[in-house]
Amino acid sequence: MSGDSFLQWEHSNPPEMDDEQFSLWQTAIEVRTGMQFPEQRRIFLQSSIRTRMKEIHCDCFQSYYEQLQIGPSSEQEWTVLTDRLTVQETHFFRHPPSFELAKEKVREWFINDPDKKSVQAWSVGCSTGEEPYSLAITLDEQIQAMHLSKDHYFGITATDLSMPALNKANTGIYKEKKVKQQISETRQKAYFDQLENHNFQVKPLLRERICFARINALNLSATPLKDLDIIFCQNMLIYFSKWRRREIVNHLANRLQVGGIMILGLGEVMDWTNPKLKRVPSDKVLAFMRHCH
Ligand SMILES: C[S@@+](CC[C@H](N)C(=O)[O-])C[C@H]1O[C@@H](n2cnc3c(N)ncnc32)[C@H](O)[C@@H]1O
Repeated sequence: MSGDSFLQWEHSNPPEMDDEQFSLWQTAIEVRTGMQFPEQRRIFLQSSIRTRMKEIHCDCFQSYYEQLQIGPSSEQEWTVLTDRLTVQETHFFRHPPSFELAKEKVREWFINDPDKKSVQAWSVGCSTGEEPYSLAITLDEQIQAMHLSKDHYFGITATDLSMPALNKANTGIYKEKKVKQQISETRQKAYFDQLENHNFQVKPLLRERICFARINALNLSATPLKDLDIIFCQNMLIYFSKWRRREIVNHLANRLQVGGIMILGLGEVMDWTNPKLKRVPSDKVLAFMRHCH
């Protein structure tokens, strides 16, 4: 498109997505990414695509759509667009009862099995890192509270589709306001360093327990992770249709070791069962324990 037409958009109304275009985009996005955009999310879809179009100086939904279908950069452009279509909103200890359950389970495992030395966890759809860091704090506190020997440890793999989110997560740097609002003073002192610009950074001792990686939840068969004790998957399944959610959680169930737990967001999977899993009885948490091979 010409620079002139882009300038024109700057000074006139931005392009509107008609019904036909909306349906075209809905289908293309679902086929490509598995994400669903029903009518109630139409405005979000339109404005996210429009923002991206503006960045690359494109003023027509149809020509942007065509760019995404063919051309050398279409693969990379899909990555950027997918990133714009997901919401990375998150916070530390977002759902406290879920972290409580993880804490109780770790306690139980170490008490019941004196040979157990480590806990391995996976945060799926970890966004900018608040969820895996909260889990790391929970596990570290529990191991310390039990006065376990130094050879007890934990490791967390934290994955997401969004590279910008993962890059931020990897730094472990968060705004002062966020940390002060979401983390108790005791935990701030124990697990964060205050930087000169007032931001807070997660201490290296905790950061080195987490490995961040880009993994598409729709392509879990390519992941080598297995025999996990804890899988956290919250506020990510909401993007997907009912059958895709089930497909994802069935994949995740296979990655748990016997006795391991999968903690989901309340209401994120309904009417679903898996022969290897038992629901953890609780009305505050949606969690399942693997009970057999
Ligand atoms: C709303 S955040 C939830 C973050 C965190 N789990 C929590 O509950 O606070 C949803 C995350 O899911 C990620 N996501 C969306 N689709 C994904 C996919 N197909 N594979 C992996 N991550 C995905 C987004 O990039 C985003 O960071």
